[in-house]
Amino acid sequence: MDHDQPFESHIVLVGLMGVGKTSVGRRLARRISRPFVDTDEYLERQSGRSIPDIFEADGEATFRDLETAVLRELLARAEPQVIATGGGIVVREENRELLAASGARTVWLCARIETLSKRLTFSRTPRPLLSSDPDAVLRRLSLERDRFYREVANACVCVDGRNVAEVVEAVLR
Ligand code: S3P
Repeated sequence: MDHDQPFESHIVLVGLMGVGKTSVGRRLARRISRPFVDTDEYLERQSGRSIPDIFEADGEATFRDLETAVLRELLARAEPQVIATGGGIVVREENRELLAASGARTVWLCARIETLSKRLTFSRTPRPLLSSDPDAVLRRLSLERDRFYREVANACVCVDGRNVAEVVEAVLR
């Protein structure tokens, strides 16, 4: 496979909080010389507000509406991008349909809960859904969402015991 331009469509990374979608996406984009965009960062820049602020002031449903609008806009770009998504993007059926219809290569980054919670302990990104008992929340979200990640994904890459560079290579394989 030509690793300089491996896929003509967007590459979309999905998976739970803490799995490394943003770090992997950024490095992957550099590796294959493509634009990188993260749906949360894009939404924050576009709205001029932080994710925790949107959750607190307007509620999760409003955040999800904004998230869908961002996903739709990014997937419509003609130039193939690397897109890192927020962990909950797969919950809405509309988003799953958008992903399927876009022809993007969607990769599920998955990990053991222990790996996620260890990483999140050191993360500086504020995550409103993890304010209490992060392990229990991650376990519940995994139970709720894994079937959706599986549904949208063309491939699954396990990140346990791998660094960012190794995950990037696994995504390209
Ligand atoms: C969320 C994940 C977050 C962010 C928001 C909600 C979720 O993104 O979109 O806090 O529902 O799992 P990351 O997966 O990048 O942390």
